[in-house]
Amino acid sequence: MGSENGDSVEQIAILTPRLIIIPTPTAISFNPYRALYSDLHATVDFCQMGFGHHFPARAWSDEETCDVIQARDIERCWQRRGLGDFAVGLRGPSTFEPDNHSKQKGDMTILKGNDYIRVAGLNNVHLASCEWVGYAGLRDATTTSMPPREPGDPVLPSWVEMIELRYGVSPKFWGQGIAQEASKAIMQWSIDERGVKRFIAETERENSRSAKLLQKLGFTLSGTNYWKEPSELEWECAAK
Ligand SMILES: CC(C)(COP(=O)(O)OP(=O)(O)OC[C@H]1O[C@@H](n2cnc3c(N)ncnc32)[C@H](O)[C@@H]1OP(=O)(O)O)[C@@H](O)C(=O)NCCC(=O)NCCS
Repeated sequence: MGSENGDSVEQIAILTPRLIIIPTPTAISFNPYRALYSDLHATVDFCQMGFGHHFPARAWSDEETCDVIQARDIERCWQRRGLGDFAVGLRGPSTFEPDNHSKQKGDMTILKGNDYIRVAGLNNVHLASCEWVGYAGLRDATTTSMPPREPGDPVLPSWVEMIELRYGVSPKFWGQGIAQEASKAIMQWSIDERGVKRFIAETERENSRSAKLLQKLGFTLSGTNYWKEPSELEWECAAK
């Protein structure tokens, strides 16, 4: 199942000091990641906090989880724009060390080709032992989460200025800066590798934890009304 999903997307891993971050076209084939993704979306408090009334918690079978990741993320995001959700895992004390050839920028290293295979193992065998703790993703909001435009709506900028950041971490790992570390890394990756110029985000008004995280990442309230949802705040952050 995994390889045919991932064929159109290059296999990469992003390493940060504590995390290994893998695009979902690859991570969809890891049972523990699918189990985590399904658990998070079956947790009432997590869904209420992250998605409000738009997405009540629901329990998916493993097959349904695959279908959701395949349809909503791989086909709609990765295959259309070359970006989407990433699985976020803990590196552990001594695993997944990059070598001198890997592309390093600040706190993050991007592994590709043979460097990726050396770290992930053939058929991603080393990643099987990784502890998956959440997801972080980027998507073109205009073709995914935003409602259709109506007559009289302001003209939108190009899609590289409409990239929505999203994230979710298993509650037992909150308060460790994991979402922040993962978000920073994928934002930098998307600037360098996809030419992203501006990030946007939406939060439920009560979701102060997510608002705090966005502010730490450099987001400010945008005053836009892209999602036309009074229960939400909208945010933006220019690529630096
Ligand atoms: C939103 C969510 C990802 C935030 O998780 P989080 O762990 O609070 O976020 P961060 O990664 O920014 O971590 C920040 C906390 O880690 C602490 N921290 C500890 N070590 C840290 C480190 N090395 N670096 C940075 N922060 C660190 C910070 O002090 C801060 O703690 P505080 O909130 O008590 O002040 C999480 O609550 C979640 O998954 N919610 C449900 C889904 C959701 O709401 N998604 C967003 C939809 S808009």
